[in-house]
Amino acid sequence: MKAVVATDYGPPENYVVADVAVPRPGPGQIQVRIAAASINPADVVLPGGQYREMTPLEFPHVPGNDFAGTVTEVGDGVTAFKVGDEIFGQAVPRVLKAMAGATRPSLSTGSLAEYAVFEADTPLLAHRPPGLDVADAAALATTGLTARALFLTAQPKAGETALVVGATGGVGTALVPLLAAAGVDVIATATAADVALLHDLGAARTIGYTDAYPRGVDAAFNLAVPGDRLTRIEQAVRSGGRVLTITYPLPAKERHDIDLEFVLDLDGELGGMREVAEAAATGALRATISRRYTLDEGPRACADFVREHTTGKLVILMRRGCPLRT
Ligand SMILES: NC(=O)c1ccc[n+]([C@@H]2O[C@H](COP(=O)([O-])OP(=O)(O)OC[C@H]3O[C@@H](n4cnc5c(N)ncnc54)[C@H](OP(=O)(O)O)[C@@H]3O)[C@@H](O)[C@H]2O)c1
Repeated sequence: MKAVVATDYGPPENYVVADVAVPRPGPGQIQVRIAAASINPADVVLPGGQYREMTPLEFPHVPGNDFAGTVTEVGDGVTAFKVGDEIFGQAVPRVLKAMAGATRPSLSTGSLAEYAVFEADTPLLAHRPPGLDVADAAALATTGLTARALFLTAQPKAGETALVVGATGGVGTALVPLLAAAGVDVIATATAADVALLHDLGAARTIGYTDAYPRGVDAAFNLAVPGDRLTRIEQAVRSGGRVLTITYPLPAKERHDIDLEFVLDLDGELGGMREVAEAAATGALRATISRRYTLDEGPRACADFVREHTTGKLVILMRRGCPLRT
């Protein structure tokens, strides 16, 4: 089969499309023919080598976590899925084992490929609802899960104000509509080109990355700034307010009159992919896809993700005949 492959540590410009063996499912596993996969920061950060001590890679390495596809083979003991099921979710590649959750983790081959193998018994996989197309499902796996976890942790109330830093990215474009639908007054960071999109997603106001942040907001969500550089974001929050952050390194609180929470729900305790599917089916979660690529364009997609401004998600469509634009 064809897959996007990193042959050594290095930037995504070094990735190639190569022929690799089709992975076969063992007990408790399923094989999936991938229809669409979306790119996340970890897909390019890990092959970059920055974390090679903590999460060493074996080469050739197939990156990719988020996917939508069709079950093509099931291993012994699998009851949750059968051949022909349309599913989506997070693969959690084997390389992320050190970061995988405590309940049965999904440790798989990477999803930027024609086929991948996943652990079946995990809340990180679900059936794809009929109204959710493969590209949107692949775009919403990590972003939907994370946006829901942020929302449920923050417990925002109607009439509150929230600053969203990194609103233009994958998680941000999923979170802003959730907040807006709850009646939250959202102030979102945006490039000039993304202002109209952010308003369409429900932001009441947009500000540039380097503009002065507003003061006195009830909640601030950090989806972009490194976790050890949150001073400006903490200062935006009113006394008694809260900061929710998802980036590394782990943050250290500078103000003692606010709550600061690092949100990471590896086990789907705040809701797994089934809840993402339900929220997508009702329209509460919306996918924002800025660019679509073929599998042959996969290395370029990964390079674009790193080198260019990211709006929403970049999605790779694996199957011939999958429309690139819908
Ligand atoms: N803890 C968790 O559960 C969890 C889950 C998912 C993701 N994450 C992490 O959360 C972060 C966001 O993930 P993502 O998938 O949304 O990434 P993404 O798609 O790359 O989005 C990040 C967005 O933030 C923007 N941005 C960068 N610097 C900014 C700044 N100083 N001010 C305002 N906006 C800025 C980026 O724009 P430019 O392209 O212009 O830089 C981009 O639009 C990543 O670090 C990721 O590793 C954590």
